Amino acid sequence: MDIEDLPGVGPAIAEKLREAGLNSLETIAVSSPAELVATAEIGEATAAKIINSAREAADIGGFETGDKILERRLGVGKLTTGSKSFDDLFGGGLETQAMTEFYGEFGSGKTQIAHQLAVNVQLPSEKGGLNGSAVMVDTENTFRPERIKDMAEGAELDYEDVLKNIHVARAYNSNHQILLVEKAKEMAEDLKGTEKPVRLMIIDSATAHFRSEYVGRGTLSDRQQKINRHLHDALRFSDLNNAVVMITNQVMVRPDAFFGDPTRPIGGHIVGHTATFRIYLRKSKGEKRIARLVDSPNLPEAEAVFSVSKIGIRD
Ligand code: GTP
Ligand code: MG
Repeated sequence: MDIEDLPGVGPAIAEKLREAGLNSLETIAVSSPAELVATAEIGEATAAKIINSAREAADIGGFETGDKILERRLGVGKLTTGSKSFDDLFGGGLETQAMTEFYGEFGSGKTQIAHQLAVNVQLPSEKGGLNGSAVMVDTENTFRPERIKDMAEGAELDYEDVLKNIHVARAYNSNHQILLVEKAKEMAEDLKGTEKPVRLMIIDSATAHFRSEYVGRGTLSDRQQKINRHLHDALRFSDLNNAVVMITNQVMVRPDAFFGDPTRPIGGHIVGHTATFRIYLRKSKGEKRIARLVDSPNLPEAEAVFSVSKIGIRD
């Protein structure tokens, strides 16, 4: 069922809803009548009717018993970064069924890590991989097949095979980015049961388009709402596919900070609360980088040093 199939939603209203990120039955089901009134320019009664029908049709999920959750948790996989000390921060690698955010200034290594994970996910589990393929939403046009080649060779893999299992889409704006996550879900569905199911989704950068499109304070809460919805979509992807979701986020300098680190991640709390793990990256001497685990449900705050070398991420 599509959102057009909801009573009261014609093509024009559907387009307005999609533009505002209300692109599925689930997102409409959990929206408020006031939100719908404002985005689709409809009356409150119609809005209420649309939301009620969406609630009936949507897959809202439900309660699960603890033993079922434990069973699912036992299926959690770990994906290596290529560096032992970096992996140790996560207790052995990035977890599936979770979203990990990497934030840091330019050149801190976010995109290099994304490339490395897209290679490593293809490794067998004995080597720290998930024996799967990767989808990458590239919002800054920084995907470089040449870097994949370097890293594949570093991992003793055939680079041509490796490139075939990395599905890259360039996102031109935030709405496009949101739709590409939907597309990624379809692709993952198609690749389920094949030799290389999708076990990694990368959004690099998750926040850049939102940041440049929503300028000025008036639109800030709009922006946060949209990012929030987008990230929950991404998080859902990790559950549906037992996949690692890796997102990147730039930091911006806070001019009003007199003490401590004057940077803070864009998207602020919304991103922070949705990501399961948060890693703050800083540059150090030469190829060295410092990663700090900032937020995790079950691991202590800690730091690790790794390096970005020609053949990829290493100790
Ligand atoms: P922004 O997207 O601009 O916010 O930065 P980022 O955090 O994504 O940085 P990125 O991962 O692109 O890091 C770029 C850095 O990686 C460069 O400054 C180099 O230090 C390093 N790097 C990139 N390519 C190579 C390479 O081929 N060899 C080596 N040794 N280092 C590389
Ligand atoms: Mg980058």
